[in-house]
Amino acid sequence: MKVNGVALRPLRALPDGQGIEVIDQRLLPFDLRMRPLRSARDVFVAIREMWVRGAPLIGAVAAYGLALQARRDASDAALRNAAKFLKGSRPTAVNLAWAVDRLLTQVLAVPEAVRADTAWAGAGAIAEQDVQVNEAIGRHGLPLLQAVAARKPGPVNVLTHCNAGWLATVDWGTATSPIYQAHAAGLAVHVWVDETRPRNQGASLTAWELGQAGVPHTVVADNAGGHLMQHGRVDLCIVGCDRVASNGDACNKIGTYLKALAAHDNGVPFYVAMPTSTLDMALAEGVQGIPIEERSGRELTHVSGRTAAGEVVEVQLTPDGSAAANPAFDVTPARLLTGLITEHGIVAADAAALRQLMAGRR
Ligand code: MRU
Repeated sequence: MKVNGVALRPLRALPDGQGIEVIDQRLLPFDLRMRPLRSARDVFVAIREMWVRGAPLIGAVAAYGLALQARRDASDAALRNAAKFLKGSRPTAVNLAWAVDRLLTQVLAVPEAVRADTAWAGAGAIAEQDVQVNEAIGRHGLPLLQAVAARKPGPVNVLTHCNAGWLATVDWGTATSPIYQAHAAGLAVHVWVDETRPRNQGASLTAWELGQAGVPHTVVADNAGGHLMQHGRVDLCIVGCDRVASNGDACNKIGTYLKALAAHDNGVPFYVAMPTSTLDMALAEGVQGIPIEERSGRELTHVSGRTAAGEVVEVQLTPDGSAAANPAFDVTPARLLTGLITEHGIVAADAAALRQLMAGRR
């Protein structure tokens, strides 16, 4: 996608083949800065501290982390250790393990002398595949927006949660891909952007992305969605996901479940945009089975923003001494989902449909 008219991705391989550059997403929307990562340890820190975030992007970045390890020591032991280390950086998004395991298998199958180049090319292929997958998700999701536009006047109002945009992927985004493609096709689209406390990925990342693309949007408090749906101001919800179990239960940023409940109560279609790299067929169900990351309470008790003088500062919100709990994700049961928008088409969120989708694909 473009920033100030210039094509940009959140991940770029350095031409010397010895590192990558990533957008430091902690600084957005006020500062757009790339940071170099030159080792598996750098990559671990960037994922853990959320310089990069979003399920598909952390998968691609972690793959490069393994490739950087292969530049230093491509022995079986070193690669297996690095893979384990990288997979421990964040627990919930399954794309991380999907990408690292896929690359590890590929690299261990070739002689040690060619592993570094094989790994580098393999990481690049994972990143490029993500771009194609997300473009296809947009193509399959676009008719949902076109159908709304065909039956009512005015813009199609889409509600989204967190950031499942191009910043969370290598390009296009997942939930935003149908939106960007609708906008490019000349459809009038308006996006309700959940601010997404506590880290505000909606307010600071999705709003920035949509603004750069010229897509009309409005940031709302996380608690506003139910009210907007009751008053007919949301035509459909599209969100991303971090892990989907084999029965269709979908894990995404905390607060997604409440939006799905409100959508269900108001008859608003609720779609999850899901690259198949986010599907965990090993899990029978998601509510008990998906590991939920617990992050620091400081993400709740403090917030950062820009002062009138242009300085970005962090301030405290809560009284000294109040405890804060911060589960970073929740799981929406499959029964609340209208469908999953995948790179292969829209499928029902149920075990039979997902089994059929994956039959013969891996
Ligand atoms: O904690 P984050 O910012 O990594 O969580 C990201 C989300 O929940 C996204 O919405 C999800 O990964 C989908 S990304 C296309």
